[in-house]
Amino acid sequence: MNERASTTLVAPHAQTPDPKPLITVTDLHKHYHIGGQELHVLRGVDATIWNGQWVAVLGSSGSGKSTLLHLIGGLDRPDQGSVSFDGRDIFNLPGAAIDRYRNRHVGFVFQSYHLLPELTALENVLIGAMIRSSILGWSARRGEAKRRAVELLDRVGLGDRLNHRPSKLSGGERQRVAIARALVNQPDVLLADEPTGNLDEKTGQQIMALIAELHQQGQTIVMVTHDQQIAAAADRRLWLHDGELTESLAS
Ligand SMILES: Nc1ncnc2c1ncn2[C@@H]1O[C@H](COP(=O)(O)OP(=O)(O)OP(=O)(O)O)[C@@H](O)[C@H]1O
Ligand SMILES: [Mg+2]
Repeated sequence: MNERASTTLVAPHAQTPDPKPLITVTDLHKHYHIGGQELHVLRGVDATIWNGQWVAVLGSSGSGKSTLLHLIGGLDRPDQGSVSFDGRDIFNLPGAAIDRYRNRHVGFVFQSYHLLPELTALENVLIGAMIRSSILGWSARRGEAKRRAVELLDRVGLGDRLNHRPSKLSGGERQRVAIARALVNQPDVLLADEPTGNLDEKTGQQIMALIAELHQQGQTIVMVTHDQQIAAAADRRLWLHDGELTESLAS
């Protein structure tokens, strides 16, 4: 990864974070109904994530880590409880404000990349910026968004892969495109679901180095993993077990 433009990955305001709660999760419950059976995945989850913190969420497969991350990102709704961002409950915002929350304040890296196969790496990153704009707004912002997308891809080491489609990229390269897409709108919080889950060890280490660099620049990060070694790099480790979240006191 190159050393140039080392301050451009994260939002300017994230670089001098105030120590304040950014996200507060209170008594979160989520059930799924499947084949006549009820699965109570989250059973009263509480957590506070502070501005600038790097938090790892650990738990075995099926414990509800992705479910929790989707709720924090406003991608799904809880059955009970709240997620507050900057003091406001995201599920009680007026009108389309939850879409704005998702598009402007959150950057999501999915467990399986979710890149659009027919778009190039550059277009996949740009689509994140396009979604947040109106048609008029987009024509005004397009040039600036493209510059930022190119810069981000350069910073994640893909400056020479801008026009590659996902099928022509390796797993680690796809994950780096997904990270660049998540960062294109300078989100307040990066939510990363098993960002190294599908990668070999060396590629996983490169992705972790990138996440650590983002953290050093002040980016708030919530990262799901089942790997304790990977979680060791974070500021805090939270364990999801039997639908409840507990803080691990061991570092
Ligand atoms: N849309 C859904 N409908 C029904 N059940 C679901 C749904 N999404 C998740 N589940 C179930 O809820 C439980 C928690 O799923 P989740 O994907 O949150 O687990 P996870 O901790 O992320 O697991 P993994 O480590 O394998 O990714 C699982 O038993 C899963 O089968
Ligand atoms: Mg998962």
